[in-house]
Amino acid sequence: MCGIVGYAGPRDTVEVLLEGLGRLEYRGYDSAGVAVVGAEGVSSRKRGGKLGVLRSSLEDAPLPESGIGIGHTRWATHGGPTDENAHPHLGDGGRLALIHNGIVENFAELRAELAEAGETFTSDTDTEAAALLLGRLHREHGDLRSAMLALVGRLEGQFTLLAVHLDEPDVVVGACHNSPLLVGFAEGEQFLASDVSAFVRYTRTARALGNDEIAIITPTSVEVIGFDGEPIPGETFEVTWDAAAAEKGGWSSFMAKEVSEDPEAVANTLRGRIVDGLPSLGELGSLDDETLRGIDRVQIVACGTAAYSAMVGEYAIETWARIPVEVDLAHEYRYRDPIVDERTLVISISQSGETMDTKMAVQHAIEHSARTLSICNTQGSTIARASEAVLYTHAGPEVAVASTKAFLAQVVGLLLTGLHIARVRGTMTDDAIREVTEALEALPDQLRTLLSEQDEIRELAQWMSDTRSVLFLGRHVGYPVALEGALKLKELSYIHAEGFAAGELKHGPIALIEPGQVVFVVVPSPRHQQGLHAKVVSNIQEIRARGARVIAVAEAGDAAVLPYANQVLRIPLTLPLLEPVLSVVPLHVFALELATAKGLDVDQPRNLAKSVTVE
Ligand code: F6R
Repeated sequence: MCGIVGYAGPRDTVEVLLEGLGRLEYRGYDSAGVAVVGAEGVSSRKRGGKLGVLRSSLEDAPLPESGIGIGHTRWATHGGPTDENAHPHLGDGGRLALIHNGIVENFAELRAELAEAGETFTSDTDTEAAALLLGRLHREHGDLRSAMLALVGRLEGQFTLLAVHLDEPDVVVGACHNSPLLVGFAEGEQFLASDVSAFVRYTRTARALGNDEIAIITPTSVEVIGFDGEPIPGETFEVTWDAAAAEKGGWSSFMAKEVSEDPEAVANTLRGRIVDGLPSLGELGSLDDETLRGIDRVQIVACGTAAYSAMVGEYAIETWARIPVEVDLAHEYRYRDPIVDERTLVISISQSGETMDTKMAVQHAIEHSARTLSICNTQGSTIARASEAVLYTHAGPEVAVASTKAFLAQVVGLLLTGLHIARVRGTMTDDAIREVTEALEALPDQLRTLLSEQDEIRELAQWMSDTRSVLFLGRHVGYPVALEGALKLKELSYIHAEGFAAGELKHGPIALIEPGQVVFVVVPSPRHQQGLHAKVVSNIQEIRARGARVIAVAEAGDAAVLPYANQVLRIPLTLPLLEPVLSVVPLHVFALELATAKGLDVDQPRNLAKSVTVE
């Protein structure tokens, strides 16, 4: 939600800003704007709608040349996605421009104060109050650095702010409070952005600002201070992927490309983390063996697709490490007043590492002395930095709004964590662990094979493009897969889709079954120890008897489903707890193909943002 870019350097500033904003499009937005400081003063252009609208306006009437600038994509909160409400907003009589990600909670109070002082508002946004106030503070303090320090003390809520001023034509100042901001370092030019993808084309050396920090950049310098004005030393890191990884590379959509990257995503999550067949998680730091032995409960917090990966993790960690595991939707976690103390390990799962709900759950855990581990895909992200230890999934950038390869990587990250805890706590023998790691290491090749066999599901999706409702059933680890299949279909195709635990069918959902209703059933392996396979086959018979059209996702060689399913989609053989990594693939492909057949934008479905940075 909202993308922010700042630049100080010799390149074509507007081009750098537009290029950066293009890379941040995936976050979701509905208007965009840029501002530069040139010989003629502060020049700004902003437009409702997609980046293309802004770009063509800038082509028709270019902004003057400039050595600094700021750019923004806005996801509307206060006021609709109009030209007026788009950022930047101006202050100090048009001598200052400001962009903002987040929400200024005390904006009504500030607005009243500023109106009283004679300021005029041209938008409905909370941001304009911050811009006008910064302008007044600049007049009072004489420079952007001091004005920003004074401004952050007046704002409530969460924010990343970037500002430029006519009097300081080589300075961009950024501030962040509970919202991300990264600096990109290069020779003779510096960058600020909400995500490294905005500047990775120019530099892979980055620093993530901590909470309540301010960065002041010029083409040749970067200074970072706290909200108290004191300098903050910090470390840079090297981004592990390059700009090409964040490009479509000939695929019809980012989502299609990212699904094709499933095998590499899984391989990268495993890389270096299995040594002699045993898990080796060097990055756990202070979550050492003694700490993990002292833990008496695990809580996993996440949202959406990440929460479904958490559910898979719950089955695996409880089975292997024999420790109670609870999964919470992150936004519900603190409100249920969970029992959490220093013997609780709270694992947060987040692709972006910026999901506000998940971040607040981690915060709650920290306040209650829990030990915290995050499984994140984005280096330097807020949740990763807030947690005691982080296991990066290294799935590569995920640009499509709907999460696909990151889900597989999250599941694998959790499986590795479960095996590690089991090993430390002595609940599994090394041989038993090796059986699992061998199966884990086979997954990338199995995924390659599986992805090369998806023509049947593509045809099915095309044939079903007029379908109005699809149900998904699963049991055990197949249940979160069913939920994920339904979520992906509804968010991409806008088709009504529901996922159910197959055992729940007769307690209500079976009433939905009528002739022709399409039902996907994720069938557990016949080798499942608890005999769930037979029970799910009975469920299939029950719904077939009522006229449902059954599409089974079942392992290769499972003949028991053949007489009852209308169609069987095969997945390669693996251990039952690892099945979600494979069984989710046809469901992702189905959602992708069906949305494509309907002519929809699969990368940016309506109303959705990739990075949900508000609660
Ligand atoms: C669905 C999807 C979302 C995210 C959720 C959490 O396709 O992408 O449900 O999984 O918003 O996002 P992260 O993992 O970034 O915390």
